[in-house]
Amino acid sequence: MATVNENSERDTAGKKVLFSGIQPSGIITIGNYVGAIKNWINLQLDYDSIFCIVNLHAITVKLEPAALRLNTLELLALYLACGIDPNLSTVFLQSHVSAHAELAWILNTVAYVGELNRMTQYKDKAKKHADNINMGLMDYPVLMASDILLYKTDLVPVGADQKQHLELARDLALRFNTRYSDTFVVPNAYIPKVGAKVMSLQDAKIKMSKSDENENAYISMTDSPDVIRRKFKRAVTDSDSSIRFLKEKPEISNLLSIYSAFGGVTVKEAEHEFEDIGYGEFKSRLADAVIAVLEPIQNKQKQLLSDKAYLNQVLKEGAQKANYRAQKMLSKVYRKVGFVQKS
Ligand code: TYM
Repeated sequence: MATVNENSERDTAGKKVLFSGIQPSGIITIGNYVGAIKNWINLQLDYDSIFCIVNLHAITVKLEPAALRLNTLELLALYLACGIDPNLSTVFLQSHVSAHAELAWILNTVAYVGELNRMTQYKDKAKKHADNINMGLMDYPVLMASDILLYKTDLVPVGADQKQHLELARDLALRFNTRYSDTFVVPNAYIPKVGAKVMSLQDAKIKMSKSDENENAYISMTDSPDVIRRKFKRAVTDSDSSIRFLKEKPEISNLLSIYSAFGGVTVKEAEHEFEDIGYGEFKSRLADAVIAVLEPIQNKQKQLLSDKAYLNQVLKEGAQKANYRAQKMLSKVYRKVGFVQKS
């Protein structure tokens, strides 16, 4: 994606800004890890990184308040357990920084109903939640644009399913800049080459998703080794026996991508490793590779969850850092649109 980044802000170490987030809407899958979190960890040293838990987004579908509270702390502990360092990066909860909702309102005035109506994810979710097609569901990508644009973000590491939302964020930034003069940085998506779309283990035509009714379709970040082994064993494959990354072998290609992401090898290397090996053995080694990464994360997450005071402190400090930056941008935007300043 081409970029117009005259507004880009570098911190004192000259780093560009990275922003990303996950909804605390329940189970977090290895799709979320491979498509997003894993890349956050790799990038956080090189960028001025901001990681958000997007709870305003999460209530666009029905969610029990108690579950949302629990999911939020679990997701925070997961971020940290995976290697996000709150001393290096800003980690915060979206609802702790009111500027996200405020900027979303302003951006709503440059977003067209027609373009929101055409968003693939909105259409999918509207179908899935036909009894609750609320305004928030439709406005979701505008709030996401607000998250990103508030922090002069250059890079947004996400899975492939968020590409269209990222394009909208870019369009809204450009549209606002054109109407009110240069204000926002136009962000770029960072979509990994391997694992941008981890597919369901039961149907390689659909994305691995936390909301899948069939538990065998996904691996949760908190699944035990036994469950992981069982789910890979039950993963759908073809009747041919070669372990190759090919268009006509979507199930095996998906498993090879997962192996590549967790085993730290390229897909080519993985193909080579499994040249003379059957599906059973492949699945067993795949499970080993995933367990080897997840087990230490799960242990760390459990340990962190037993220290609520620490987790709350991380959120408090993160909110302070994020609020400071977000308020600066919001004031600028308010000035640009012609709101009289508060005295
Ligand atoms: P969410 O919570 O649905 O997913 C979080 C991240 O995980 C990625 N992802 C996947 N990647 C590969 N394969 C999969 N099967 C898979 N499933 C999910 C998603 O692409 C995403 O990167 N709208 C966002 C959250 C958000 C956000 C933001 C992200 C809100 N504001 C600002 C970046 C910047 C979402 O619903 O992600």
